[in-house]
Amino acid sequence: MSDNTFKKKDVKRVNFSRPNDGVGVYLDYAGATPMDPEVKHAMEPYFEDKFGNPAALYRDGRLAKDAIDESRKTIARILNCRESEIIFTAGSTEADNIALFGVAEAVAGNRAWGIGNGNGHLIISAIEHHVVLNSAEALKRKGFEVSLAPVDAEGIVNLDELKKLIRSDTFLVSVMYANNEIGTIQPLYEIGKIIKQVREARKASGNNLPIYFHSDGAQAVGACDLDTQKPGLDLFVISGSKIYGPKAIGALYIRRGTPVRPMFFGGGQENNLRSGTENVPAIVGLAKALELAEAKRNPPTGGENTRLIKLRDYFIKRLVTEIPKTILNGHATRRLPNNVNVSILDIEGEAAVLYLDAHSISISTGSACTSLTLDPSHVILALGRPYEHAHSSLRFSLGRKTTKEDIDYVMEVLPQVIARLRQISPLNMKVDQKEISHPEAFAGQGARVKVGGQKYK
Ligand SMILES: Cc1ncc(COP(=O)(O)O)c(C=O)c1O
Repeated sequence: MSDNTFKKKDVKRVNFSRPNDGVGVYLDYAGATPMDPEVKHAMEPYFEDKFGNPAALYRDGRLAKDAIDESRKTIARILNCRESEIIFTAGSTEADNIALFGVAEAVAGNRAWGIGNGNGHLIISAIEHHVVLNSAEALKRKGFEVSLAPVDAEGIVNLDELKKLIRSDTFLVSVMYANNEIGTIQPLYEIGKIIKQVREARKASGNNLPIYFHSDGAQAVGACDLDTQKPGLDLFVISGSKIYGPKAIGALYIRRGTPVRPMFFGGGQENNLRSGTENVPAIVGLAKALELAEAKRNPPTGGENTRLIKLRDYFIKRLVTEIPKTILNGHATRRLPNNVNVSILDIEGEAAVLYLDAHSISISTGSACTSLTLDPSHVILALGRPYEHAHSSLRFSLGRKTTKEDIDYVMEVLPQVIARLRQISPLNMKVDQKEISHPEAFAGQGARVKVGGQKYK
């Protein structure tokens, strides 16, 4: 087919399931979700009628306070914890920061735990979201020691390696529930068991340093069981932006007794950990969105997970069979029901995103957050893959409005986009090739590429 025929395709006349405008195909639900109309409806009264300050003693204040209390109750029920163990934050980023910095400073500041000469040691998985990665980097600069727990070739944390990394001064282990790029779901129960064993061993040996278990659940919400007690989590983060709720609202579960130093200082709201007037409509929206996501996730028959898994696997099968040199990233089954992440060799992921956008298809490379830079995905590199696999990774994330017709349309357009990009690509890689072949091709893209002792930038 000539380029011309391809360009002529007019998707504007095709009514796909894209949220809101109904034109084109939106496959970036892991980046952002449209708001569920029921969520919007639940939030509405709190913008105009019930606008009061929840700290006020009069009726308008009490109405707002009641809404917060009800929302906290709903969330505590779903997370199987006490209401007093939930604090509201402005999204996952803030909740993760409060958890990591709050615990680190509380532990380091408590001389009774006698960490020794340093400030102590924490472990995070190698594929954490940049929130946790960069928080750990910042903690390192404050004197804490950080280890990265490696993952296997399919992106699952290696439990034996994790066990080996735990030291007598380790006070925190942070492993995300589900990865935002490749969708792998981590074995939280097994990690929880390891932490329990460490606690018992410490008790027996007279080491009274506590060890806490933190997990970023931002991507798992709406797809996975959120019971915080089963894996024995001490700190757990959820947010509204990926579950058809409002953005910039999240919640942090803090198990009773877990020491957390405040990061913000002010009026003392949210148990003195998140001072500032609460965002009442967003809190109401978060609880409603979570309630709806839970109800849709796994009803006795069918449900959104079942539908999405079928659609996901159909899509993956078509991608790897119809587009040569396409490799699935992440585990085939232990992955989020809506996540499809592939490396399509000999192309640049960003170029594919832009070409697809020209055909009203919205997807992302790696994570939505790393698309602000052109650094290769640390997640794909952590799988033991070369830079080229990281640079050619594409993330398609499906959602409530995604249909088989959408996938079929993408499979009509994408092979042609790939063929075009390969025509102009300087790269030519074999599927099983482990070494980078053309490092110079990545120079100047923000990536620091080191091959055979030579650095390219
Ligand atoms: C796993 C994970 N953690 C944290 C975040 C940050 O969320 P927010 O931007 O809502 O703070 C994201 C966003 O994509 C995410 O996927």
